[in-house]
Amino acid sequence: MEKNYDLIFTGGYLSLPNGNKKADLAIKDGKISAIGNINFSHAKKNIDISGLNLLPGVIDSQVHFREPGLEHKETLSTGTKAALLGGVTSIFEMPNTSPSTTNESALNDKLLRAKDNSWTNYAFFIGATPDNASSLNELEKLTSCVGVKIFMGSSTGKLLVPDDESLSKALYSCNRRVAIHSEDQERLEERFEQFKNTKNVSDHPNWRDKETAIISTKRILEIAKKNNAQLHILHISTAEEMALLKDKKNIATVEVTPQHLTLYSPDCYNRLGTLAQMNPPIRELYHQKGLWKGITDRTVDVIGSDHAPHTLEEKENVWPNSPSGMPGVQTLLPIMLNHVNNKKLSLDHLVELISSNPARIYNAKNKGNIIEGYDADLTLVDMDKSFVIKNEDIVSKCQWTPYDNMNVKGCPIMTIINGEIKMRDGKILGSPNGKAIFFDN
Ligand code: DOR
Repeated sequence: MEKNYDLIFTGGYLSLPNGNKKADLAIKDGKISAIGNINFSHAKKNIDISGLNLLPGVIDSQVHFREPGLEHKETLSTGTKAALLGGVTSIFEMPNTSPSTTNESALNDKLLRAKDNSWTNYAFFIGATPDNASSLNELEKLTSCVGVKIFMGSSTGKLLVPDDESLSKALYSCNRRVAIHSEDQERLEERFEQFKNTKNVSDHPNWRDKETAIISTKRILEIAKKNNAQLHILHISTAEEMALLKDKKNIATVEVTPQHLTLYSPDCYNRLGTLAQMNPPIRELYHQKGLWKGITDRTVDVIGSDHAPHTLEEKENVWPNSPSGMPGVQTLLPIMLNHVNNKKLSLDHLVELISSNPARIYNAKNKGNIIEGYDADLTLVDMDKSFVIKNEDIVSKCQWTPYDNMNVKGCPIMTIINGEIKMRDGKILGSPNGKAIFFDN
């Protein structure tokens, strides 16, 4: 007997695990139910997507949604709405909220807040501290915890594990892959004196210089080796770290951001001022080229947005009193599709970096691939559609983007969450249906 499918997409190009193929896809009960040449006579709904590309739902594995405590910058509702419009179906959220997510009750509080309010699927990181370092192996196993995040250098919020002893303790405790913000705190503190009075945001990458990142990455690789730990090093910003990490795949997977691949110094500071300020900083073209080399030679496993919204008013403070970070969850996919259209990487490769790899390296269940039985999280894109990114279209609470007025080619036109169409042609549909994500520990 024919299955009674809920929805069938016909005639599109599907990004399957073994490459791009023209095929139909059927959804039933929120799952991918069939792939191939499907008889759609029994489907409740049938959508012709000829000429379009259907991707496994995009997972943004690094977002800061600010709830609880900093809701004037973002909430789980506004952040996931921005994600949905940008074609993102799942988010992994960072622990530097207020309070920081460093224990079971803080994680459960976030899960409760996300339930019924999240437009995308969600999971949360636990933040490491010198105090919880020995109990991370228990915390990382909590339901819908993506894993542990360590800030080696201070950034937004209070989380910090700066010294080798605490880092060792933390990595010894963790069994799962540990996400790392790699900047050397001692060097940051030493060099701050030199720059703190210049009032010039162009000094951001001079203060937090490339050595700050390189020293820290070398340190954490050594500590991980001694403790037999697996790392995921976030937002790599220097050509030198990328070259170093190329031969360390047995210890560390690697993430870069679209902004480090797109913006560069000094242009970004001249044009955008403190809006371009983030940690680790955007650096010169030499480093951007090194990051692209890491994409081409497959040192890079994941592209995550590091969506880190701050209000324009906060950003107007004079450097170094201006906060670091920029929004990006809504623009991650359009910016990267534009790079695909500019032949910087293939669409298949991009899908690995923003869907299958984040699911694989963190062991997310039933996510990241178009496979029968997997969750029906899907992103439909029109590779030929051009549009101009505008501040007024940004639904993140901060309402700005570093890409204002940029013309891009390649556009998410439909986002399907757990089998339901929740965004179509830039319009949000119905009510939130995001679910907590589960992981194999
Ligand atoms: O620039 C940044 N902003 N880097 C981080 O690591 C944190 C983020 C934030 O939360 O604002």
